[in-house]
Amino acid sequence: MSRKKIIAANWKMYKTPGQTRQFMQEFIPLVAGHTRDQIVICPPFVNIATLVEMAEGTNVEVGAQNVFWEKEGAFTGEISCEMLVGAKCEWVIIGHSERRQYFGETDDTVNRRLEVALEAGLSPIVCVGEVKEEREAGITEDVLRRQCSRAFRGISARKAAKMTVAYEPVWAIGTGLTATPEMANDAHRLIRQEAANVFGDDYARQLRILYGGSVKPENAHNLLEQAEIDGALIGGASLKPDSLAKIVKW
Ligand code: 13P
Repeated sequence: MSRKKIIAANWKMYKTPGQTRQFMQEFIPLVAGHTRDQIVICPPFVNIATLVEMAEGTNVEVGAQNVFWEKEGAFTGEISCEMLVGAKCEWVIIGHSERRQYFGETDDTVNRRLEVALEAGLSPIVCVGEVKEEREAGITEDVLRRQCSRAFRGISARKAAKMTVAYEPVWAIGTGLTATPEMANDAHRLIRQEAANVFGDDYARQLRILYGGSVKPENAHNLLEQAEIDGALIGGASLKPDSLAKIVKW
């Protein structure tokens, strides 16, 4: 089965609304007419409205970097699924390693966010990945299996239809170190196997699994040509229009 690849930008805590507008003015002409891959940009919350406005009628889709599981209430600083949908945001990153590392995200909170995001009709990108110590200790497989099985708990294949997974080895994020295409391929195969265990073989065959961790124009092709790699989640190299456009055209 051929799975359309997704080139997704995670802008993390970079860019103001003004800088978002400027980025899009330069970026849109660079990727105009590109239909081979899906293009998604996930800016900080305050830039979503600008990005949605600039992306209208183009091949660029908009995502958030997190979402809270409650519908509404006294939860200062949080954003709900309904708010994202109302802002015409279609995608959401869930469980990024920086959320796990700095903001107390756990496998259980990933599961709660995933469930409500799917319920709301958003397309979640669930992030998993081992830290350096785990890889060195030879427990990468256990970590990925645990992260996936806990994230997917209680969710049906039908409900998970719009889910995507991103494999982001933490030691490769922002470090310039990239997993070799073979390492990434192995991890993706394991994640697909875990998805098959939970959701069944048909589901697993169509699940798109992105690779993230120091993806750049120079290494994008070698990664994206791998059979198991269905796209990329890009941090640093997504902040400049020409660099992201080069990755889109891998
Ligand atoms: P870098 O591309 O900057 O390594 O970041 C990867 C990432 O965390 C994307 O979510």
